[in-house]
Amino acid sequence: MSRTYVVTGAASGIGKAVTHALVSDGHRVITVDRQNADIVADLSDEAGRAGLAAAVEAYASTIDGVICSAGLSSNSLATAQVNYFGTIATLNALQPLLAKSAAPRAIVVGSLSGTFDPDAELLQAFEQDDEVHALKRAMELIGHAKVDAASASSRVDEMMGSGMKVYHTSKRAIARWVRRHAPEDSWAGAGIALNVVAPGLVLTPMTEKLVNSPDGQALLALTPMPLNGIATADDVARVLVWFASAENTHVTGQVIFVDGGSEVSRRGVDTV
Ligand code: NAI
Repeated sequence: MSRTYVVTGAASGIGKAVTHALVSDGHRVITVDRQNADIVADLSDEAGRAGLAAAVEAYASTIDGVICSAGLSSNSLATAQVNYFGTIATLNALQPLLAKSAAPRAIVVGSLSGTFDPDAELLQAFEQDDEVHALKRAMELIGHAKVDAASASSRVDEMMGSGMKVYHTSKRAIARWVRRHAPEDSWAGAGIALNVVAPGLVLTPMTEKLVNSPDGQALLALTPMPLNGIATADDVARVLVWFASAENTHVTGQVIFVDGGSEVSRRGVDTV
C-alpha cells in the first residue's frame, strides 16, 4: 500500500537515496531541504523551522513516516543547530500528522560518532533545550579546535578533537532524545515507532573528499568497518526504508548501527 513520507535533507546523499528508494517502491515523498526540494526550509534557524508543519500540511493532512536526514558535519554552529535543534523541531512539528496514520514511523539519521566522547557542557545544553547556551559552547569548542589543530600529532587526532566534538555531541544528544521520548504517550502511545539509524562512514557528498584522501584511510583505521567497508547511501537507504515501513511493528527507541561492524569493533560486547 502506498504511504506518504517526509524526508529532510532529501537533496543529497542518504536523504536523496532514501527518497529515491521510497518513490521507486510506489510511495509518495514530500522532500525538505535548503534547495531542490518540495519544501525549501533552512532547519538551522527558528524562521526556517517555524513554517514546517503548515508547509507539510499543505501537501498532506496525514503522514505515515518521517526520515530526518538533514545534517552537517562541518566545524560550525550550523552543525549544532541542524543536527539537534532542527531535527527535534521537525519531529515535534510533524508528530500530530504522524499520529493520524495507522502505522506511523519516525527515524533520525544519527551517526556512529554519537558513541565518541561528547562534550559534557554542550550535551547538557542540548538536553536542556537551551540553544543559546549550546551555541555559545559550540563556539568555544570551534575556537579550541584551531588550537588543537596546531598541536595535533596527526590529522585524525585533529579530526577527533574539539571541533568535531560539536558533531559527535549533537549525534549523542539526538540519540538520547530519541531513546528518552520513544516510549512516551505521544510517540509509542500514538503508535509511532521512533528510532535512530546510525551509519558509520558512508560515501556521500558530505564525506567524498575525506574518503578519497589519505585522512579517510587513517580514519578507517580508527573506526574499522570489517563487514564490507565504507557504505554507499543506498546501503543505508535500504535499512531506513524498512524502519519507515508498516512492517516495523515493535522496534522503537533503538540506535541501529549501519556501520560494517565499527561500533562493536570499538566498544566490544558489553553495550548490549
Ligand atoms: P549530505 O551533505 O550529502 O546531505 C545532507 C543534506 O542535508 C543536504 O542536502 C543539505 O542541503 C541538507 N541540509 C544541511 N543543512 C541544512 C539546513 N540548514 N536545512 C535543511 N537542510 C539542510 O550528507 P549525508 O552524508 O547524506 O548526511 C545525511 C545524514 O547522515 C546527516 O545527518 C549526517 O550527519 C549523517 N551521517 C552521514 C555519514 C556519512 O559518512 N556520510 C555518517 C554518519 C552519519
